[in-house]
Amino acid sequence: MIDRKIKSDFPTLDQKINGKQLVYLDNAATTQKPYTVIEAVDKYYKNTNSNIHRGVHTLSQKATEKYENTRLKIANFINSDSEKEIIFVRGATEAINLVANCYVRPLLNSNDEIIISQMEHHANIVPWQMVCEEKKAKLKILPMNQNGELLVDELENMINKNTKFISMNHVSNSLGTINPIKKIVQLAHKNKIKIMVDGAQAVQHIPVNMKEIGADFYCFSGHKLYAPTGIGVLYGKKELLDEMPPYQGGGDMIKSVTFEKTVYNEVPQKFEAGTPNISGVIALGTAIDYIINIGIENIAKHEDELLKYATKEISKIKGIKIIGNAQNKASVLSFTIEGIHPHDVGTIMDSEGVAIRAGKHCTDPVMDFYCIPATARASFAIYNTKNDVDKFVNSVKKTIEVFG
Ligand code: ALA
Repeated sequence: MIDRKIKSDFPTLDQKINGKQLVYLDNAATTQKPYTVIEAVDKYYKNTNSNIHRGVHTLSQKATEKYENTRLKIANFINSDSEKEIIFVRGATEAINLVANCYVRPLLNSNDEIIISQMEHHANIVPWQMVCEEKKAKLKILPMNQNGELLVDELENMINKNTKFISMNHVSNSLGTINPIKKIVQLAHKNKIKIMVDGAQAVQHIPVNMKEIGADFYCFSGHKLYAPTGIGVLYGKKELLDEMPPYQGGGDMIKSVTFEKTVYNEVPQKFEAGTPNISGVIALGTAIDYIINIGIENIAKHEDELLKYATKEISKIKGIKIIGNAQNKASVLSFTIEGIHPHDVGTIMDSEGVAIRAGKHCTDPVMDFYCIPATARASFAIYNTKNDVDKFVNSVKKTIEVFG
């Protein structure tokens, strides 16, 4: 297991909530930030603040270098072919909207089809619904079984000559399922269909390798991997990004502008109109350094041990039902307690200092599938310990006691 001292890298974790030491288990919603990441933002504004790609002066050059250096770090971190395939966006949601609007929308005609899965986050449902509605196209849903595993073999039957695009998550935020994404990508490509993978719940938990996965587009959010909010990444294959129109117009995404004609910049700048979130990008680079320093394989192993331990311990408690029992899971433990609404579970656990999420987790169709209003969800990160799991299990028991 990872060293307990990791907790001391995260200032937010060092506090009492309702008189109890905080146990933070809402990591699928957002992770806490290590000192190095917080300091990267602070240092940027104290020492380097200036605009990028625009200035000949030293500060601007330094800021540009740090910003572009993060692009390179991310390209290496996810093993993409080139840093030109890395686009900075606000988060996974913006990345999906960008691909829906700039890649899929131009090629979609009426009666065409897009396939997503039953376990998508709303961010990987609504942009496709919007584009389908406009183009009178159809959104098809790959089903899952009661364990929360996709029926991947059905995908081939769902694909037909009208299928234009597939988008699926790598790891489910409400069930924790790790989907067999490489197999899904291979199936898509065998049928000459391009595919996007939403990796918002994957990159911080398991090794992610673009060359191995082979997806055409992949995205994630910085704030779920120890970086600030408001910054994220879209990976796209260079030849696809090259042929796509820009997402937004403005400064930096152009080579030249006259009133008669504008020539767009090359990728990645073509997709980064306006002054970007410079400090966010730089701090994202620091968060990647932090992860690399510990090792993503070590993180995966540590979180897997915590998840298995927590699953085993809460399964012993009468009235607990675990939602999402896939063979292959990462970090997420969703559950219900018989006779107690998940919001009440979350509130009582908070009074014990244990922060979990209660709700639908932006996956209403998953809740509908299980015919439940919501779940309580604990999700683990690098800094959680076996002791955190023990406190979590005790607070579940306390919740049951309170409700008699
Ligand atoms: N998508 C985030 C979650 O799963 C907010 O909690």
